[in-house]
Amino acid sequence: MAKALDGVRILDFTHVQSGPTCTQLLAWFGADVIKVERAGEGDITRGQLRDIPDVDSLYFTMLNHNKRSVTIDAKNPKGKEVLEALVKKCDVLVENFAPGALDRMGFTWERIQALNPRMIVASIKGFGPGPYADCKVYENVAQCAGGAASTTGFDDGPPLVTGAQIGDSGTGLHLALGIVTALYQRNTTGRGQLVTAAMQDGVLNLCRVKLRDQQRLARTGVMEEYPQYPDGKFGEAVPRAGNASGGGQPGWILKCKGWETDPNAYIYFITQAPVWKDICKVIGREEWLTDPRYATPKARLPHLMEIFGEIEKWTMTKTKFEAMDLLNEHDVPCGPILSMKEIAEEPSLRDTGTIVEIDHPKRGKYLSVGNPIKLSDSPSDVKRSPLLGEHTDEVLAELGYSRQQIDELRAQRAI
Ligand code: COA
Repeated sequence: MAKALDGVRILDFTHVQSGPTCTQLLAWFGADVIKVERAGEGDITRGQLRDIPDVDSLYFTMLNHNKRSVTIDAKNPKGKEVLEALVKKCDVLVENFAPGALDRMGFTWERIQALNPRMIVASIKGFGPGPYADCKVYENVAQCAGGAASTTGFDDGPPLVTGAQIGDSGTGLHLALGIVTALYQRNTTGRGQLVTAAMQDGVLNLCRVKLRDQQRLARTGVMEEYPQYPDGKFGEAVPRAGNASGGGQPGWILKCKGWETDPNAYIYFITQAPVWKDICKVIGREEWLTDPRYATPKARLPHLMEIFGEIEKWTMTKTKFEAMDLLNEHDVPCGPILSMKEIAEEPSLRDTGTIVEIDHPKRGKYLSVGNPIKLSDSPSDVKRSPLLGEHTDEVLAELGYSRQQIDELRAQRAI
């Protein structure tokens, strides 16, 4: 079946996580993604967190599916010539080097436009223009500077980062959307453009509800759905909300049967107002239905922790899956806390291609996350990541280089 981005060629100058997640998505949608790496070393993640000696790490393989790898030394004059040929041939250049690195290679926006006015240049940087524009940034720096860490964790603990890679993979997603949008606009303008996504901005975009709360707090001095209400104190900034729901429906994480030994025997429980009657019945607290302290959502707010404590007495008598089944009969929104082991073994995620098993010539079989975005007319088949420089000769031949020229470039260490 044809793919949505068939015919789109991406010059992939990305490394580590943020940029590679973006180009991997584009590759899953059918773009031809040509990843440029340095001979001998390649993307630094090939060698990081290795579980098998001398074999590309899972860090690399899980972020670089469906791509081709070419080795080019961008600082070698002959290597630059190859890159220029690629710039002329490709539709999009994606990069997430440290600020200024692409310019230092000689590939300024002006130079790229001169070579190919239709080219879209897409960049991830840690920060946008401003005091930190020149800083190098990794995931957790972005989580801290984007507002996520100050609003994650418990009131009596330090700021916390989250395991979800909202700075890297989150910004990669933002950039991918920017790229397809620019490709769409190019259909009418005929011109390329610059697409930039700063990791701080991406994290902040995902923390939008916390900026909402900052303004609510400034106006009213209190947020009744936060665990600090009614007995704790609110300061000037949005506090850490523990496991409180970010929306208008109060929620919390509750222990389930086995919690004493299983660190993930918990369930997320949302006391959605329309099913309050059912919740009272299921947990055996029907007297709450007529008690004015519990009868309305507003009346319940000062008692939320007490209510969750009572519900927890019930959830502790069930496994998280039993609780889930019973609550779903009544449409009570809830979710088991799934460990990565449980997710890896979940058959329904295998069926949908969200978890896929891939075969790699050097490491054998491994699990990965497939494309979480499903297009009915452009299904994603996940192909293994390329070995370093696996496609150098193939791509150069497509650019018109002869066998002899390729050998010469290799002898000159340009590729
Ligand atoms: N040929 C020749 N040189 C190459 C090359 C190639 N194929 N690929 C990379 N390089 C060079 C770059 O030109 C750069 O050289 P310069 O410093 O002389 O200009 C050098 O390699 C290092 O690149 P840099 O991006 O500075 O790598 P780093 O390992 O020092 O920093 C980051 C890594 C991630 C901190 C940095 O790239 C960054 O801040 N990126 C933007 C934010 C981001 O995406 N962060 C998240 C990463 S998951």
